[in-house]
Amino acid sequence: MCAENYIKELNIGGVRLENNLMLAPLAGITDYPFRLICRALGAGLTVSEMVNVTALTYKSKTIPTLTRRSAGERPFSIQLFGNKPEHFANSVRHIIRNKLSEIIDINMGCPARQVVTSGSGSFLMKEPALARAIIEACVGASEEFGSERVPITVKIRLGWDLNTINAVDYTKMAEDCGASMVTVHARTYSMKFSGTPLYHHVADCKNAVKIPVIVNGDIKLYDSVKNAIDICGADGVMIGRAAMGRIWIFNDILRQAAGKRMLDFSIADVIKLIKLHGRLVGALYSDINGVESFRKQLLWYTKGWYDSAKLRERLKVVKTPDEIDSILDEYLHAIGDIAMQRHKVIGAYDII
Ligand SMILES: Cc1cc2nc3c(=O)[nH]c(=O)nc-3n(C[C@H](O)[C@H](O)[C@H](O)COP(=O)(O)O)c2cc1C
Repeated sequence: MCAENYIKELNIGGVRLENNLMLAPLAGITDYPFRLICRALGAGLTVSEMVNVTALTYKSKTIPTLTRRSAGERPFSIQLFGNKPEHFANSVRHIIRNKLSEIIDINMGCPARQVVTSGSGSFLMKEPALARAIIEACVGASEEFGSERVPITVKIRLGWDLNTINAVDYTKMAEDCGASMVTVHARTYSMKFSGTPLYHHVADCKNAVKIPVIVNGDIKLYDSVKNAIDICGADGVMIGRAAMGRIWIFNDILRQAAGKRMLDFSIADVIKLIKLHGRLVGALYSDINGVESFRKQLLWYTKGWYDSAKLRERLKVVKTPDEIDSILDEYLHAIGDIAMQRHKVIGAYDII
């Protein structure tokens, strides 16, 4: 395939994406601040953390925070999870009525114990009749809005385990029910997040349908985008863990694809980005929980930094964006010139 064909515009049920590099939904991570930065740095589509359809149906207080997006985050996809088709339908209506997103995704891939034991996420890979009812409920609810309808997409795994791979059946079912795109995490439920992704099964999915099929699992840099697309012919890629601590990954991939060098960030550059990220977190969450949940990201960002043991100990217990700023400023001052050197940030991609 020609290099220029890997990165391209994509049409999802009438919604145009500038490029086919998507940020995966990551519960507890891909909130409004995280997505805003990924988007500014080149992601073609960003997806919310998974939103519980029952909580949305009963208007839980957490929903506005989960579904909040910035003005520039368009198109945006909200991902729903649950196991009651009528709650999915209610959620779709709520999202469209309130213009919360341009795309709605159904989670059939999450392997977290509390999600699977409640009959949602990956559990649906074992329940084709229920999975079908959920997709039909979402598409039907969306169709009620006529020209205002939004495309419904589905995110699946290869199957429950290696003996029960059924991703092709699910991809065909999704298309048959009116879904506009399927994303395939190229692992089974049993593989959770480890083991080599089996992209060749995604090729079978791609060959079985006309709607776009997106490949997901271990995509890191442009080489892995090319490798995955070469193997399965997918229409785009979804990137999850590789964006954790390397929020500029979309920029890197787009630059590599354009034959340019990746930007050489210095520690000082990344500190500016972290401060911005911290401010956005402080603005979104009214209590300390926001900064507490941001601490893990501070540790990802600073992994491998020069003489950073003390810095990281302090970031582990940080409570406010002001504190984040002053701890980082002190570190910057202490390491001086080293902070300004290019390539010092991390031997970044060797450690993913
Ligand atoms: C911390 C974490 C949270 C996740 N949350 C979700 C989620 O809310 N919805 C979902 O469909 N997948 C979720 N996933 C799965 C990712 O979207 C993605 O499918 C998976 O990480 C494989 O892609 P990767 O190898 O690029 O990380 C999560 C994964 C991780 C590691």
